[in-house]
Amino acid sequence: MIISEKIKEFTTAISQTITNQTFISLSLGNYKGSEENLKNLYVKRILIKKEEKLSFTYRYKTRDIVKNFSIAEAVNMIEKFLLEGFKVSTLFSTESDLQFEILNTGKVTLKKKPSSKSTASLDHDKNKKRLIPAQNKSYLTDLKITDQEGNVFKNAQDKYKQINHYVEILSSLIKEIPTEGTIKVVDMGSGKGYLTFALYDYLQNVLNLQPEITGVEFRADMVALCNNIAENAAFKSLNFVEGTIENYENKEIDILIALHACDTATDDAIFKGIKAEAELIVVAPCCHKQIRREIEKHKATNDVDFLTKYGIFLERQAEMVTDGIRAMILEYCGYKTKVFEFISDAHTPKNVMIVGIKNHKSNPDKTQLLKKIKDAKSYFGIEYHHLERMLGI
Ligand SMILES: C[S@@+](CC[C@H](N)C(=O)[O-])C[C@H]1O[C@@H](n2cnc3c(N)ncnc32)[C@H](O)[C@@H]1O
Repeated sequence: MIISEKIKEFTTAISQTITNQTFISLSLGNYKGSEENLKNLYVKRILIKKEEKLSFTYRYKTRDIVKNFSIAEAVNMIEKFLLEGFKVSTLFSTESDLQFEILNTGKVTLKKKPSSKSTASLDHDKNKKRLIPAQNKSYLTDLKITDQEGNVFKNAQDKYKQINHYVEILSSLIKEIPTEGTIKVVDMGSGKGYLTFALYDYLQNVLNLQPEITGVEFRADMVALCNNIAENAAFKSLNFVEGTIENYENKEIDILIALHACDTATDDAIFKGIKAEAELIVVAPCCHKQIRREIEKHKATNDVDFLTKYGIFLERQAEMVTDGIRAMILEYCGYKTKVFEFISDAHTPKNVMIVGIKNHKSNPDKTQLLKKIKDAKSYFGIEYHHLERMLGI
């Protein structure tokens, strides 16, 4: 089949999706035409004075130009662009993704795949007011959560919800601490930075605060990626440093965050927060190997040993005991604590969040707390808890 026929087949499919109201968007790429610096073309549907039109965003190397056309005009232009310039185009509809491609060999292909942008969920997301809207956020696009037009990818819906849920939690916690001047935040084990970027965006652009956020991460590739994304987003006071939580030196921390840092890395993070007298410490622990090993090693005889002989219950108990002792240690160090489910465990089993808010008003009964920590350790056959050992209590 010659190219023009295949293009006709593709543009007919575009027209059909517009007629039957299943059109979501169209993207064109791999431009080889004569227009200097043109990279991509994105097409979406808009209503102007009750007339349906197609809006073209021409993406050039350094700028975007938007032009709107009637449907007939637009389809003709797309046909012309495919004949003369763009080698790849994808039509996104609620029913399927249709990809048109002119290969280097001159062969033309048209491939249909299941829809990657379900409007049902998109509409739902658009209707629901999110603290972090999906539109016009270069970092969400760079992190592959949204496409260029701000549509959340189908496979990123859970991540996007998690980001918003996290920001919701943080937004209510932040109300409990002083926020004048620069707020220094350290995110320990920041990984790909999904939550770090969202928090920076929220603090700076929604709450109009002055955040200074550092992501600490030992994977150099993640650090480089995140610093590029931060630069692209013009997030000037957000930076990522390569290094370990244990060796991170910073005496000034207002908010310490560690989400899903493995095993004792969570203790290392809490320790840094306590030492810096952070106003807010927020951790979502990951695995709980250190205490599990202790419980397994000493095999204490107690009222619940009928449970801990089973691996799965031992695992759950190690999690509760580790985190329960962490919460008591935070109280011992002058923090008011909260422990709650972070996200439904349908999404991840790592779903507990421990929060410490510096309590400037009341003094904890340290003797009583110390006794409780020691009793808990002895009951479960635990020689030491990593956080307790680091603090020397
Ligand atoms: C499971 S990921 C979580 C990333 C991010 N906090 C989130 O919740 O999306 C844990 C990250 O912590 C990093 N990490 C674990 N232990 C660390 C340590 N001791 N020092 C620095 N980074 C660490 C890992 O490389 C990984 O990127």
